[in-house]
Amino acid sequence: MAKDPVRVLVTGAAGQIGYALVPMIARGVMLGADQSVILHMLDIPPAAEALNGVKMELVDAAFPLLKGVVATTDVVEACKGVNIAVMVGGFPRKEGMERKDVMSKNVSIYKSQASALEAHAAANCKVLVVANPANTNALILKEFAPSIPEKNITCLTRLDHNRALGQVSERLSVQVSDVKNVIIWGNHSSTQYPDVTHATVKTSAGERPVRELVADDAWLNGEFISTVQQRGAAIIKARKFSSALSAASSACDHIRDWVIGTPKGTWVSMGVYSDGSYDVPAGLIYSFPVTCKNGEWSIVQGLSIDEFSRNKLDKTAEELSEEKALAYSCLA
Ligand code: NAD
Ligand code: LMR
Repeated sequence: MAKDPVRVLVTGAAGQIGYALVPMIARGVMLGADQSVILHMLDIPPAAEALNGVKMELVDAAFPLLKGVVATTDVVEACKGVNIAVMVGGFPRKEGMERKDVMSKNVSIYKSQASALEAHAAANCKVLVVANPANTNALILKEFAPSIPEKNITCLTRLDHNRALGQVSERLSVQVSDVKNVIIWGNHSSTQYPDVTHATVKTSAGERPVRELVADDAWLNGEFISTVQQRGAAIIKARKFSSALSAASSACDHIRDWVIGTPKGTWVSMGVYSDGSYDVPAGLIYSFPVTCKNGEWSIVQGLSIDEFSRNKLDKTAEELSEEKALAYSCLA
């Protein structure tokens, strides 16, 4: 029997990421080739004409899985009955700006959209915040939508996770699909900690630790980390716009794994509400290694954390606590 269509909201749909993301969703990249979708696209009035152009292109592409398109500048209409909400709307960072600089513009958007989602989305709607500062926007959304279960509000660090896989695969000249279990801890910012301590590569001799194959701790503890931390800025420098196709693709990975489940023996990184695991302060949206099953994520427990890692986990947590305070001061 055919499944009912899933309603997927994309905010900021007339923007760069939106333009890359909506065709992926309509093609089944996010929810599978047997899952039809109804796309809800929200943007602000100055972008209404461009948004309508995106809708026209979606019609023209004749996607078999696409059962309807709502394109609107009305946040209530956009949120009505949505099962999945991908929150991309906001202002991107430009060259020379830190994520903190976009804070005041973006957190107030997430406060107001929290109420609309809480009141109008489907029960159990899964929310992914992409817009920066992603962790803190997600936290504000959670705090101003108290009836949405905290487990349903997440932010995107899968792009950083995929970047880390990409760097290891390039360094070792192996297929990226053979590398797994890197971890992004903390903030989607330059304090994030890309950690390969438990990462492995599939080889003809079985799974081998990345550290053993790379055999260069100076690179793994130095350039590798800073390359992943600074990749967003490097893309902005090269393209003059922030990453879009990789962000859209990673957003699809995040939702797909959350809904459909992670493969056995594999974890991924998601920004989720901290419960104090790994001595990360509770009450922050922090990126952890997670596995997903039956539509729920769980933090992978029991991984060893050495002193080098401990310092890095704490530093990015500190930044998130500061961002939280700054966000509240912007909203006051
Ligand atoms: P963009 O400027 O091209 O698009 C953003 C869109 O949001 C615009 O169309 C704008 O009109 C719209 N918008 C602004 N305020 C809105 C509101 N209140 N409601 C709905 N829509 C609104 O930017 P982009 O390149 O698509 O990036 C979007 C966001 O994603 C930025 O904040 C960027 O920094 C962030 N980002 C995050 C990641 C990540 O990995 N978490 C990666 C890349 C980009
Ligand atoms: C990215 O990681 O590419 C985005 O978050 C853009 C940015 O501001 O770094």
